[in-house]
Amino acid sequence: MIIGLPKEIKKNEYRVAATPNAVAALVRAGAEVLFESDCGKGSGFPNEAYEAAGAKMAAREDVYRRSDMIYKVKEIEEAEYGLLHEGQTVFTYLHTNAHPHEAEVLMEKNVTGIAYEDIDDENGGFPALAPMSVLAGKGGFLAALYFSQSVHGGNGLLLNRIAGVRTPEVTIIGCGNSGLGAAELASSFGNKVTILDVNFKAMEKAKQILPPNVEFLASNRENLLACLKRTDVLINCILWNKTRKDHLVNREDLKLMKPGALIVDVACDDHGAIETSVSTSHDDPVYTVDGIMHYVVDNIPSAFSQTASETLSAATLPYALAMVKKGVVQALLDDKHLRRGLSTYKGKLTLLETAEKNNMPYTDALEALKA
Ligand SMILES: NC(=O)c1ccc[n+]([C@@H]2O[C@H](COP(=O)([O-])OP(=O)(O)OC[C@H]3O[C@@H](n4cnc5c(N)ncnc54)[C@H](O)[C@@H]3O)[C@@H](O)[C@H]2O)c1
Repeated sequence: MIIGLPKEIKKNEYRVAATPNAVAALVRAGAEVLFESDCGKGSGFPNEAYEAAGAKMAAREDVYRRSDMIYKVKEIEEAEYGLLHEGQTVFTYLHTNAHPHEAEVLMEKNVTGIAYEDIDDENGGFPALAPMSVLAGKGGFLAALYFSQSVHGGNGLLLNRIAGVRTPEVTIIGCGNSGLGAAELASSFGNKVTILDVNFKAMEKAKQILPPNVEFLASNRENLLACLKRTDVLINCILWNKTRKDHLVNREDLKLMKPGALIVDVACDDHGAIETSVSTSHDDPVYTVDGIMHYVVDNIPSAFSQTASETLSAATLPYALAMVKKGVVQALLDDKHLRRGLSTYKGKLTLLETAEKNNMPYTDALEALKA
């Protein structure tokens, strides 16, 4: 199998799907790996490291033209549509529910699309999403640390326990992957941290690993409003149901917050759990509503591209290796968790969420593979 590693073209995207160590493992498993010049540069992996791992540099068009499987990070951009060819596999974050046109192109071209974000595991988790969420939570706290500084438009509070000074309060909604990432850093800086969740088991588990300066509260309107009044930073880490029309924090609730308090919306659903949230970019990360600064960057992990590439590559490599060793179809047939990520196959849409959300015809993945 020939695997192609293109350079990501999305603005501010510095990650790469496979590190040189992952490439060495793919080559040992029998793959030929082609890479586009500088595909790993933004993550600190030079071309020489890929060559030393056994990959061959090729022009972008050749990477796409010759590869059986394109191994990348972000969705397929319009500029990449024309480079795909029939029978090819793309293994990446696809997010076809948000990008139905991308799904249509993959189907038209008979491309096998396997989405990282939909591969699940035996515990109901999403192994290629979780490591990015943890990084996003940590990055969310670091953004709070930065934007609390007066020189960056904040209220000049250092989010750290300091003798003689009131300890800052950080409220985190959601005790999942990103919430735990945010809580780990916020608590290690000595802040008074409160986590709110509706899942008591998740909070019980988190209580075992987080220090005593973290309090756990049931997520309900009364507890949330009490936290809003006293918090210096609110970090939203909820997995929000995209079909919900209500909010947990309404615009009028911002009036309850302390002047200069900060909202970091890691979940970054536009007008989702936080009514006033609209996603932003690393180039222009913050805006202010009713005196409350909002940070709603939708690809926080790309700021930590080297760490993110290493964790993402480690999470997806076992599936890539299985596809190299068995072939894509057999690997999909053998592993129901990888198959859960199958979005398009031979012109059929095999991802239920995308079909339901966009009113498109759906075919069960196993049925499509066996047809
Ligand atoms: N901004 C970014 O760059 C970035 C990066 C990665 C993930 N994300 C997003 O972050 C969000 C969270 O991801 P995750 O992996 O941490 O999810 P997760 O499923 O691990 O955790 C979500 C938590 O929210 C809790 N929750 C649900 N409803 C709640 C409520 N009403 N009150 C309090 N808690 C509630 C759940 O019980 C769960 O514990 C997702 O939407 C994900 O797409 C953003």
